[in-house]
Amino acid sequence: MMKATAIAPANIAFIKYWGRKDAKLRLAYNSSISMNLSACTTTTTVEFSSDFIEDQVSEGFDARRILNHVDRLRKLAGIHTHVHVTTQNSFPTSAGIASSASGFAALTVAAASALHLNCSEKELSGLARLGSGSACRSIPDGFVQWDDTFAYSIHPPEYWDLRDILVIVESQAKDVSSSKGHDMVTTSPHFQKRLERIPDRIARLKEAMKVKNIQMFGEVIEEDCLDMHHVMQTQVPPLFYWNKQTKQVIDAIKKSGLPAYFTIDAGPNVHIICEAKDEKEVVNLLRTKYKIMVNKPSKGAHLI
Ligand code: DP6
Repeated sequence: MMKATAIAPANIAFIKYWGRKDAKLRLAYNSSISMNLSACTTTTTVEFSSDFIEDQVSEGFDARRILNHVDRLRKLAGIHTHVHVTTQNSFPTSAGIASSASGFAALTVAAASALHLNCSEKELSGLARLGSGSACRSIPDGFVQWDDTFAYSIHPPEYWDLRDILVIVESQAKDVSSSKGHDMVTTSPHFQKRLERIPDRIARLKEAMKVKNIQMFGEVIEEDCLDMHHVMQTQVPPLFYWNKQTKQVIDAIKKSGLPAYFTIDAGPNVHIICEAKDEKEVVNLLRTKYKIMVNKPSKGAHLI
């Protein structure tokens, strides 16, 4: 039987991947560090069969990008039969939560298994990267680092009981895709400067993780988030992902004085990172005004 189902988490980057030195191979200019998210997942079933007369992908998903990725894996396996891909997110597709990381991680694990490719975790991560850069970080467990061609776990999920309280501030607006944004990164006069600051930032983040110091940790993630958005906003054409509510959420968190810190990807939603003990207070502060999803650190992509 050539059928398999996998589930994969989305991930939130603490040190962001922004800019690719090789767009086709999706090789990043800088290392990135992330945490897998327990509540934001994609579940994907991949089936190959000589009974199928055409390739098929669930409605509402980018069939061309998905089938391009399946083609890579089909080539590796030397198999030409048609595929049916059925995929589902645990979060509303319209919520502006980037689904390419969980999507391509789940697709890679399911397709590799259906094709009997027998890949190692490292190989799966490298393959997922070709679908979407950040997807390589959704393969290993817990807290993950991506340096060059694949990502690896630096701490298991249970290492530090953090929360990512995802504040969904907007549901309709169509964002500029991050793939396009990556391509223009070198037009920002601040791009090179950010790159130079990354090694020290990674060292400080890893030290904060080692001693589990949330304040030190939070200061580093906010610094890199702001730095990446500074680069985005000074690219040509400029990319502004924040909206009024994004700023309101940040202000509310800062005003509360709670040990909770923000980070934002290529969209207006805000991820508030705190320790488990502060989850309730953060949630109470925001839940009347916004839709929120509470994430714990989770394991990486796996078959189900
Ligand atoms: C801002 O992984 O979505 O979320 O490789 O083109 O699929 P592609 O880009 P993608 O970029 C993610 C950018 C980010 C930061 C991050 O997750 O590290």
